[in-house]
Amino acid sequence: MIQEPHKAAIIQMFHVHKYYGSKNALVDITLDISKNEFVFISGPSGAGKTTLLKLLYLGECVSEGQILLDGMNLSRISRRQIPFLRRKFGLIFQDYKLIPTKTVFDNIALVLEVTGKKSRLIQKKVKSVLRTVGMEARLNSFPPSLSGGEQQRIAVARAVVGDPKIILADEPTGNLDADSATIIFDLFKEFHARGTTIIIATHDKELIRKSGNRSIYLKKGCLQSSSTL
Ligand SMILES: Nc1ncnc2c1ncn2[C@@H]1O[C@H](COP(=O)(O)OP(=O)(O)OP(=O)(O)O)[C@@H](O)[C@H]1O
Ligand SMILES: [Mg+2]
Repeated sequence: MIQEPHKAAIIQMFHVHKYYGSKNALVDITLDISKNEFVFISGPSGAGKTTLLKLLYLGECVSEGQILLDGMNLSRISRRQIPFLRRKFGLIFQDYKLIPTKTVFDNIALVLEVTGKKSRLIQKKVKSVLRTVGMEARLNSFPPSLSGGEQQRIAVARAVVGDPKIILADEPTGNLDADSATIIFDLFKEFHARGTTIIIATHDKELIRKSGNRSIYLKKGCLQSSSTL
């Protein structure tokens, strides 16, 4: 009998619930995500996709249940350890969360500055990632002067510049035209090929279908299915 190769989990969720007051945003979620998996979280608006991502980077704490991330129990992490945990992630937020008073260059450079990278390397890496997302001409612009799609591309650049172990992307192509979405998606595929785990929350069924990757489907906070189309 041929055995399935063992795929180590990078994320394990056990009977996770999340309440916001009396609202049960996630209901009894148990799932594994493997190291170097490329997986989608899908489901209608309000299903709990963003909430699930927030629990992983400790943007919110679980109400019940447990999450193991790369062997760490997130319920046992001290406040001091949180910045180190976050460095494992490249985060792309649904509302971008760029710093409006810093230039595009500085928004991205900040990721490398906090880890003590040398200024010359920072210059090189930031310019290179901006070229990849087609935004090199805007490095001195401030985020409020950019369109939604342009800000989204900067948010993607910021998420990948530090070569994170895991990319968590919340609707990363929601505001992009088809060509820009393809560039961003190809960039994720490149990181995936280099060993990064990619988790994308999206409504975009076409994107999921084209990729052929596993999709975890949420509805009203419940895990409905987890399948490869
Ligand atoms: N901070 C909060 N306080 C109270 N309720 C919240 C909060 N954040 C989310 N919720 C509620 O939890 C549920 C899940 O929200 P969440 O943002 O995770 O959904 P989503 O699947 O990401 O939706 P969308 O596709 O619209 O982004 C929703 O009913 C939402 O109103
Ligand atoms: Mg959301």
